[in-house]
Amino acid sequence: MCGIVGYIGHENAKEILLQGLEKLEYRGYDSSGIYLLNETGQGELFKEKGRIATLQSLIPTAASGTNGIGHTRWATHGKPSRENAHPHQSTNKRFTIVHNGVIENFSQLKQMYLSDGTFASTTDTEVIVQLLAKFVADGQDTKTAFKRVLSILKGSYALAMIDTATPELLYVAKNKSPLLIGVGKDFHVVASDAMAMIHVTDQFVELMDQEMVILQAEEMLIENQTGEVVERAAYTALLDATDIEKGTYPHYMLKEIDEQPAVLRKIVQHYQDAHGNLAVDQEIVAQMLQADRIYIVACGTSSHAGWVGKQLLETLTHIPVEVHLSSEFGYNPPLLTEKPFFIFLSQSGETADSRQVLVQVKEWGYPTLTITNVQGSTLSREADYTMLLHAGPEIAVASTKAYTAQIAVLAVLAEVVGKSKGLPLTVDMQHELGIVANGMEMMIDDKEKIEQLASEFLAVSRNAFYIGRGLDYYASMEAALKLKEISYIQTEGFAAGELKHGTIALIEEGTPVIGMITQENVAGHTRGNIQEVASRGGHVMVIAMDGLNEAGDDFILPKTHPLLTTLNAMIPAQLLSYYASLHRGNDVDKPRNLAKSVTVE
Ligand code: F6R
Repeated sequence: MCGIVGYIGHENAKEILLQGLEKLEYRGYDSSGIYLLNETGQGELFKEKGRIATLQSLIPTAASGTNGIGHTRWATHGKPSRENAHPHQSTNKRFTIVHNGVIENFSQLKQMYLSDGTFASTTDTEVIVQLLAKFVADGQDTKTAFKRVLSILKGSYALAMIDTATPELLYVAKNKSPLLIGVGKDFHVVASDAMAMIHVTDQFVELMDQEMVILQAEEMLIENQTGEVVERAAYTALLDATDIEKGTYPHYMLKEIDEQPAVLRKIVQHYQDAHGNLAVDQEIVAQMLQADRIYIVACGTSSHAGWVGKQLLETLTHIPVEVHLSSEFGYNPPLLTEKPFFIFLSQSGETADSRQVLVQVKEWGYPTLTITNVQGSTLSREADYTMLLHAGPEIAVASTKAYTAQIAVLAVLAEVVGKSKGLPLTVDMQHELGIVANGMEMMIDDKEKIEQLASEFLAVSRNAFYIGRGLDYYASMEAALKLKEISYIQTEGFAAGELKHGTIALIEEGTPVIGMITQENVAGHTRGNIQEVASRGGHVMVIAMDGLNEAGDDFILPKTHPLLTTLNAMIPAQLLSYYASLHRGNDVDKPRNLAKSVTVE
């Protein structure tokens, strides 16, 4: 994971780097650092274990440089510590580097080239900068040495490197990890995503894998792996700097929960033709109509949205759907049908587990669609087709609005494909999503109720369960992930009927169990399972949809179309986890051990 940032120009890089790092902190936050080099080749390195705020407090006001790089870390190789924090330097301090990614062959490289060297850290990254220094010491110029190092690295990297001998140059390289160049008047910036640079420019140049870039304040040289110069125009990012501010909210997560009704309305608006009917790129529809099976591939929350998507697509298009975790599919692919169609669900569009499957599937020659929130992201660029979520930047590590947006986009897709197939549809998705958005608004306005339930129900628990059947089971999986990742309460989402086949042994006096009831055909059965839990001492809470509710239920969801109930069910679940985390004094937006964009396998 990790986030990197760099600047070369005529201003002081310090504030630009620090502001960029703050925006990238969602990518990792166990340590951070910056390196500043002035025009006479004097460099200053600041790094520390902990958040950007800790780093900021270490940097003297007078620190300055017109060339600089910065890093915020999510540890892979080497525990979080000052020594392992980036930037890393060669022993002679001439070269300084920041890196996002994983160098898989770093031990071999150490043995082959640097067996008599000493290392200041236990990271994989340091080998890059020490190798560079060695090749230069052996007589190569910096550019040749840098390219040689890149040619022997195995793994993923987004790199920015400074050589004190050339303060006017910033070296950059990319392979598999995300990296963008930002173009300004008399300066260039580089960062892991556009959000980190939108405060200084909205002009960006994409980089492809195995490209190397040499930046000057006014010049940019991109070379591909074979050394050919690449010309690439900048594009304007559709990002509003205010989208990435918290405004008056105490946490991004709360802001993003509140944004969900607006996101749903935006999706409906966006996927419309000139006559106001839902519409999707005709080529996507044509490909799906030819498919004999749809494979949805995703991780974490996105995979949970995929399960709901399966139900929507199978019901509305009559095409069979399989849902796979990317990390499993990559190394244990299922037996595929003759005409598969692949859908990659990824909020960030950068998840390494999903990307490796996409690369494989493309090699096999099957059509691919990425549904993502990030325009220009790797998965979006590399798939045949993209559908955007239009949810605006999601910054809190726990995904909320991207999950509901993914389901809404899949619902639109399912309706459009089903209609094109001539199936007799009974769902007016545009209208139904509007009803969902209204219901979400009502629940969001009634937060206090959930806050109280969270403090009574979850404040002191060690573990908890969500249970449901059908779509309520899929919602339970997501609700459980949301609760565990930010409250640290060990929570599992179970198919309600499965409890009695083993898991019910875990129910003790007071164990919180949340039953989800939104599906009429299984409501009675789930109620029965809830009774089984209650009679074994479980502390039961019921979230039921209007019409299926009973006296004593704890939370009533506004009525929606049965295929879309997960969208509304997620509002109380997200708020429960938010308040449980808050009551426990956790860092809601940046839970321990996690990062937003998982760019390592
Ligand atoms: C949990 C969460 C993660 C992501 C997962 C996939 O709240 O956000 O489980 O859903 O890491 O990320 P994307 O969707 O960016 O591929």
